[in-house]
Amino acid sequence: MPRPPRGLPRPPRRSAATAAAPGRRLLLSAPIFYANGPPHIGHLYSALLADALHRHRGLRAAGPSRLSTGTDEHGLKIQQAAAAAQTSPPELCERVSGLFRQAFTRAAVSFTDFIRTSEPRHQRSVRHFWGALRDGGALYKGCYEGWYCTAEECFLPESQLAERTDAQGRPCKVSVESGHQVHWTKEENYMFRLSAFRDPLRWWLRDNPGAICPEPFYRRVLSWLQDELPDLSVSRERRRLQWGIPVPGDPTQTVYVWVDALVNYLSAVGYPETHGEWWPAAHHVVGKDILKFHAVYWPALLLAAGLAPPERILVHSHWTVRGQKMSKSLGNVTGALGCMEQHTPDGLRYFLLRQGVPERDGNYYDEKVAKVVNSELADALGGLLNRSTAPSINPSNTYPRFSASCFPKVVGHGETRGVGRARAEDYALVAAVAALPLHVAECFESFQIYKALESIDLCVRQSNSFFQRHAPWKLNRKEPSERLWLDTIVHVTLECLRVYGTLLQPVIPHTADKLLSRLAVRPEERGLADVTFLPRYDGKPCPFEGRQLGPDTGLLFRRLEKSSPCQVEKL
Ligand code: ME8
Ligand code: MG
Repeated sequence: MPRPPRGLPRPPRRSAATAAAPGRRLLLSAPIFYANGPPHIGHLYSALLADALHRHRGLRAAGPSRLSTGTDEHGLKIQQAAAAAQTSPPELCERVSGLFRQAFTRAAVSFTDFIRTSEPRHQRSVRHFWGALRDGGALYKGCYEGWYCTAEECFLPESQLAERTDAQGRPCKVSVESGHQVHWTKEENYMFRLSAFRDPLRWWLRDNPGAICPEPFYRRVLSWLQDELPDLSVSRERRRLQWGIPVPGDPTQTVYVWVDALVNYLSAVGYPETHGEWWPAAHHVVGKDILKFHAVYWPALLLAAGLAPPERILVHSHWTVRGQKMSKSLGNVTGALGCMEQHTPDGLRYFLLRQGVPERDGNYYDEKVAKVVNSELADALGGLLNRSTAPSINPSNTYPRFSASCFPKVVGHGETRGVGRARAEDYALVAAVAALPLHVAECFESFQIYKALESIDLCVRQSNSFFQRHAPWKLNRKEPSERLWLDTIVHVTLECLRVYGTLLQPVIPHTADKLLSRLAVRPEERGLADVTFLPRYDGKPCPFEGRQLGPDTGLLFRRLEKSSPCQVEKL
């Protein structure tokens, strides 16, 4: 008789206050991607979400953080992909892993750790983790049979299968989720007592309602936990699967690829030696397709190994391409590298983060990228910078002075007519931009980066209206009173641009750098603590006033061409 698992630890309750406390460490992660094909825009999107969170946190100086990603290199899927490509698994993984690293580097993903599951440091962590599961009594050997889906690397219950015919016209079963064929598999495996963790998982989620975000995914996980949880097969017979980590102490078995893969988050923080400095302060960004692995299996495995579940799991939906799921057979897999070539890294970053809503699938097509990016980055933001720094408006090329007599401070609903030259809409602009940094921080905190970008874009448009409304090009610089107002209009506009540039750094790092450099904002002045908008309006000094502007007067963002769609690169 197998032993029951030793005392199930009750997961600790974490308060929001602890989570937001400054100075604490945080591990952010993107998934590690299967090394069976080149990176596409879906993979890149996950990495970009994690990167934007990582960069935003860095700007808040919220404490040390790391960003991990990498490649998932073991398992049947890779073994078969290598055979199909007439190469060996190590060669295939080397090549594909290199493409992921190249794409993420090109996209300016600020990863600090790139884990390859074939690396010795990771294999060591997996062996240690297996030992902790075994020593905790969470494993037993049993005969397991069921339908295995290689594409998803998991067994599927009948309820998730559909009847189809294969290429030869013979009846077969496929996964409803992925559409891939499943195969009947029967073998002796190590089993993990997942069933014993249903209650601990429910307690964990009840006590930590923010643990899975956005909320619909939290509810989905809770609903899974209403049913019995079957135990999980966590190894495969070595004679069927050689490409993987041998089970410690039993060379006839290979560790199940998902256990191997999930442990990468611990390898990234030096498990089993130094992980205590980071774990469980981990936020995992994942696609909805791998939610069960992260929100059910992973926390249960951690509890069984004597560790706490991760602090947060941030879930996003999928990109379709012209309304269709990306697939090799449809030939519509949209490669990340090709897309960046076409739309520039910042252009693609902006589009994916601006249009990607975690709760809903997004639809990608190239014309839409060009339309959004041209309208919001090239025309609205770039145009505003161009107009407000034009030599005709600002011949001295300096950050001009603000005049409180032209734009006096009003308290509450003060009457402004007759005093100064600013109008009600101008006060509305000042209020909107002053509130923007906090609003953007809240959007990042609640994993709604697209909302932050929508709000920034609205403010950019309001700033353009402000500039247009007052037509500074019509004011006569030689007339002292006109000049004060002209300088004030430009000062307010540059202050708006400085706030947008600062807030856009996590999303479009190259463009934001160009914008801030043109505004003569020094690197040490780009943090979120320094972003205070329009201090002169509040009677405080503005460090930028009178400063010489940066030398690069070129276009902020060149308009994108509406050219042909980009395909995935060939392996
Ligand atoms: O599942 N839209 O790897 P994977 C948005 N190795 N995101 C998408 C996407 C799409 N159309 N397609 C994929 C694996 N993704 C495992 C993960 S983690 C310990 C192991 C993203 O190569 C999304 O994040 O199949 C999804 O979860 C991930 O890529 C799956 O990549
Ligand atoms: Mg997949």
